[in-house]
Amino acid sequence: MSRDSLAAAALVAALLAAAAAPTLYTAAANGLFKKPPRPELVLPKGGDGKCVEPTDYMRANHMKLLVNARDRIVRGGEKLDKYHIEGCKNCHARRAEFCDRCHAYAGVKPECFGCHYLP
Ligand code: HEC
Ligand code: HEC
Ligand code: HEC
Repeated sequence: MSRDSLAAAALVAALLAAAAAPTLYTAAANGLFKKPPRPELVLPKGGDGKCVEPTDYMRANHMKLLVNARDRIVRGGEKLDKYHIEGCKNCHARRAEFCDRCHAYAGVKPECFGCHYLP
């Protein structure tokens, strides 16, 4: 490359960097390159530190478990004490610090709470 074309290339590179800087700055300031924070959940103290099913399973499937339990208990007449929705609060005593935080984070609003698990 000639001297002139080297200088031209350097100039183009400098201009591109200057043009990108505000965008990158804004993106970084808005946390675009950071992972979103996990919601802060208050977990039960005491007990044996276990949920009614393994934690990973509960995290992914508690909604299906509860809806399924409702059908089996209310319609099927089964006795499934372990999965009573009101039983969750025996350990997750404050909905606001557990269920609600995660649901707000995920943007879901289970309508169940209109009747169950108050407050
Ligand atoms: C309009 C009020 C209402 C709504 C909304 C509602 N339920 Fe219920 N649910 C009841 C009533 C009434 C019973 C029967 C009485 C009882 O056992 O508490 C019941 C019973 C249950 C039971 C079995 C009893 C127990 O205590 O666990 C489960 C499980 C249950 N509901 C889960 C759910 C889930 C999950 C949702 C949301 C998808 C939901 N319910 C929404 C009123 C409601
Ligand atoms: C006997 C006490 C107990 C009962 C009852 C209980 N849980 Fe749990 N749950 C725990 C404990 C302790 C943990 C944390 C376990 C761990 O750290 O691995 C947990 C964890 C969870 C998690 C995962 C949280 C996370 O870190 O992502 C969900 C979701 C959950 N429970 C939902 C429920 C629901 C819904 C009910 C009612 C059907 C319920 N739990 C009933 C003790 C309980
Ligand atoms: C680790 C995060 C997390 C925690 C903790 C959590 N949930 Fe959820 N929950 C979710 C997500 C995400 C969904 C929506 C899943 C979907 O739409 O597939 C959901 C959905 C539900 C639904 C289904 C609503 C419907 O209308 O179908 C119920 C019921 C429910 N959660 C109950 C609870 C209860 C009760 C607790 C506290 C004991 C709890 N959840 C704690 C993440 C969580």
